[in-house]
Amino acid sequence: MRVLSGIKPTGRLTLGNYIGSLRNFKAFQNENEVFIFIADLHALTLPIEPDFLRSNTRDLVAFYLAAGLDPKKCVIFKQSSVSAHAELNAILQNFLYMGELSRMTQFKDQSLKMDQNAIGLGLFAYPVLMASDIVLYDSKVVPVGEDQIQHVEITRDLVNRFNNRYGKILVMPEAKVTKVGARIMSLSDPTVKMSKSNEKGDVYLNDSPSVIRKKIMSAVTDSGNEVKFDPENKPGISNLLTIYAAMKNISIIEAESHFKESRYGDFKKAVAEAVLEEIVPFQERYKSILNSSLVEEVLEDGAIRASKVANITLNRVKKTVGLL
Ligand code: AMP
Ligand code: TRP
Repeated sequence: MRVLSGIKPTGRLTLGNYIGSLRNFKAFQNENEVFIFIADLHALTLPIEPDFLRSNTRDLVAFYLAAGLDPKKCVIFKQSSVSAHAELNAILQNFLYMGELSRMTQFKDQSLKMDQNAIGLGLFAYPVLMASDIVLYDSKVVPVGEDQIQHVEITRDLVNRFNNRYGKILVMPEAKVTKVGARIMSLSDPTVKMSKSNEKGDVYLNDSPSVIRKKIMSAVTDSGNEVKFDPENKPGISNLLTIYAAMKNISIIEAESHFKESRYGDFKKAVAEAVLEEIVPFQERYKSILNSSLVEEVLEDGAIRASKVANITLNRVKKTVGLL
């Protein structure tokens, strides 16, 4: 089975990225054909400094490898190194409609914060490029966090539309979200998603262990004293329980039962320990990879292998629509 996912190199990765996405990739690589990429073309949909984009890209490759992706078992590549993405994008943009694109939550959220006269077309057309990424590899499974489900759904609409017109040409993908942790919330405001753009209170994967511990210990909770999973009334505690359960690979109910008698302070300490137990060795691997030439080697090899697969689909689509 083909499995594909990507992350945008737009900033420092958070613990949310790690739990909702990065950490889940390696489980697929032994039994599937896995394609994991750096969505650098997508990173251009909001203004970004070239040097920042470049260093985030290197960083992300090192994070992929540190998270256990084996470049012999899967293909790791940069979206912009495989020109088929942009070519397929030019064809598929005719199969998604402006009305449905304007209803995408991510577009609405991001464009709302912007100068209304300076919203790039790329931001609006973001899902077309994402659909191109997905169908190029005949991907069946797309592991993502909860916020990306809508983009996989619109890809499914596109596949239906295209196949109804031309026959069974594109493979129908499906989003796969992790059972625990598909939406990690900010530690400083547990009613909003943890994201690369919240400054304070979010745990970054390259924060030092002491900073991570401090951020978790000062996570916003509530004035109660019961460690209970209740996202509506206890969003902070529920988020910490989710983080704990994800790190320990247990269910939220199991996590809850561990802390029945605990005070908030002791509970937070246990959450911090659970995070550090996994993140510290991960950070060590990341640092040593970043200082080697492995990143460049992986990208070079990945571009060649990904292009081979992508060009087959691109040619099939070109032939189908009458371009060859
Ligand atoms: P992005 O940072 O938008 O490129 O997201 C990369 C991946 O991380 C996507 O699959 C997202 O759904 C996932 N992700 C981002 N933020 C979170 C979060 N707070 N909780 C869980 N998953 C997340
Ligand atoms: N849009 C995704 C995000 O912001 C990144 C992405 C781009 C992606 N293309 C993709 C994810 C294809 C999965 C499949 O997280």
